[in-house]
Amino acid sequence: MFETLQPAPADKILALIGLYRNDPRPGKVDLGVGVYKDIDGKTPVMRAVREAEKQLLATQDTKTYLGLAGDTGFNAAMTKLTFGDKADLSRIRAAQAPGGSGALRLVAELLQRTRPGATVWLSDPTWPNHPPVMRAAGLEVRNYPYFDAASGSVRFDEMLATLRTANSGDAVLLHGCCHNPTGANLDLDQWAKVADVLLERGLLPFVDIAYQGFGEGLDVDAAGLRLLAGRVPELVVASSCSKNFAVYRDRVGAAMIMAKDGAQADVAMSQMLAAARALYSMPPDHGAAAVRMVLEDAGLRKDWETELEEMRLRMLRLRVAFAEALRRQSNSDRFDFVASHRGMFSRLGLTEAQVERLRTEHAVYMVGDSRINVAGLPEDGMDDLAKAIVSVLD
Ligand code: LMR
Repeated sequence: MFETLQPAPADKILALIGLYRNDPRPGKVDLGVGVYKDIDGKTPVMRAVREAEKQLLATQDTKTYLGLAGDTGFNAAMTKLTFGDKADLSRIRAAQAPGGSGALRLVAELLQRTRPGATVWLSDPTWPNHPPVMRAAGLEVRNYPYFDAASGSVRFDEMLATLRTANSGDAVLLHGCCHNPTGANLDLDQWAKVADVLLERGLLPFVDIAYQGFGEGLDVDAAGLRLLAGRVPELVVASSCSKNFAVYRDRVGAAMIMAKDGAQADVAMSQMLAAARALYSMPPDHGAAAVRMVLEDAGLRKDWETELEEMRLRMLRLRVAFAEALRRQSNSDRFDFVASHRGMFSRLGLTEAQVERLRTEHAVYMVGDSRINVAGLPEDGMDDLAKAIVSVLD
């Protein structure tokens, strides 16, 4: 019966993993998939996570089921990490999910159960997996303008103008920090203006926070989300531990609901867990248990925060060095925005054909829309890389 099927198109980001791996050229540069890399190009297990895993191995005496919401200690710790210590926890519920994508899908399923076929507004551009995840749950996808490629900044007025045309009950997906793929983010004044429009139009904010700690720091990166939580009646969140705990393949994330009151939060949570039961039943335990141990233990937590901060500062240094190299090699300020962006990504504004030439002629890998993973920038080869980029510009 499979003779009727056409092959599925390859995922634009994940396809780069294999292409890069199979490239025999020495000095190849991987700016593709969003994983943190150290100066040696390695993606290490974080110290605190490794220690928690050791303790877990030594103390775990059963692997029996935990339940649909997974590890409740993890959920409580993630709620605090995301919403902060001052949040009104009585109307927030969280469910452990298989990674950020799993969390997005759970929230999308909840929206579908709340308003079948509801519209979710996504930034243009956004992470390429957002539309398929939303559509898989049955939601309609529309876009709001977000990025001005020429200046590397947010098209904020157009974003707000478009959101003002949204209908009451629509959801608006906002990147909590470290916008993927552009690296251009809202400041707090802009978050406040977004909150005004959400309230004015009766829109539901849906915050995807997958890079907390990679932009300006753990608390600052959640400040926009927390501002919204203080102003709007309802909010849904998908968070990921893939990057900030470097537990990518263990699939650790959380889906969170802030409802008008505790009773409504309980009902919404029951619907979200029913969706989980039909999708995968229960989330994988190991990574979330390690994350919970790190967050609950003062010593492990301090070490994790220190290492995360080192990673963040390294990405900032790389941004500055890369922008300087591009300025030298292009003799222009065209790419200066790279230094002021935050998070793991920036979008350089190259054409697909230029990106392809970089790969074939220079063994430089980036996503087709010219998104670069800043953590992959070669500390000792910035000028060579900048020269290669400038060489494909004309
Ligand atoms: C990315 O954007 O590169 C990461 O989130 C990995 C992925 O799953 O796409």
